[in-house]
Amino acid sequence: MSTSSQGERSLVLIKPDAVRRGLVGEIISRFERKGLGIDALELRTIDGEFADQHYAEHVEKPFYPPLKDFMTGGPLVALVVSGDQVIEVVRGLVGATDGRRAVAGTIRGDLSLSNRENLVHASDSVDSAKREIGLWFPELG
Ligand code: PPS
Repeated sequence: MSTSSQGERSLVLIKPDAVRRGLVGEIISRFERKGLGIDALELRTIDGEFADQHYAEHVEKPFYPPLKDFMTGGPLVALVVSGDQVIEVVRGLVGATDGRRAVAGTIRGDLSLSNRENLVHASDSVDSAKREIGLWFPELG
């Protein structure tokens, strides 16, 4: 699926907890209402090897094993969103990592009480967005 691409790009994952809870539409609609473009969108279930590649910078951290189990435990929705300063804009919409501390009005602040089951992953820099989009959607180049 593709709408008009504009500006910078970010990789967003709507995590397995959000799919399980029926929040995919709610989350995508927040990006759409903000005016962001959707350049790619796909339902996927990933294996451990792919999770290790996506979270390469975290694989040695103590929180990684439960994070890996969670991310490989059910389908997720991967999408590429685009727009002016989209990386910063999306992280603002998503809110702080820990849903208990995320500000009300953000996706996590409104809908999550966890730092693992926190509904959404979003690229944190231009470099990580390039790396993550290359991994998830190599056809976008
Ligand atoms: S770090 O070390 O500050 O860079 O980590 P952080 O950005 O806070 O989090 C990176 C991803 O790890 C997830 N996370 C956790 N998962 C499981 N258990 C615990 N305790 C935990 N703490 C952080 C967090 O949700 C981040 O996932 P992504 O997909 O990158 O949002």
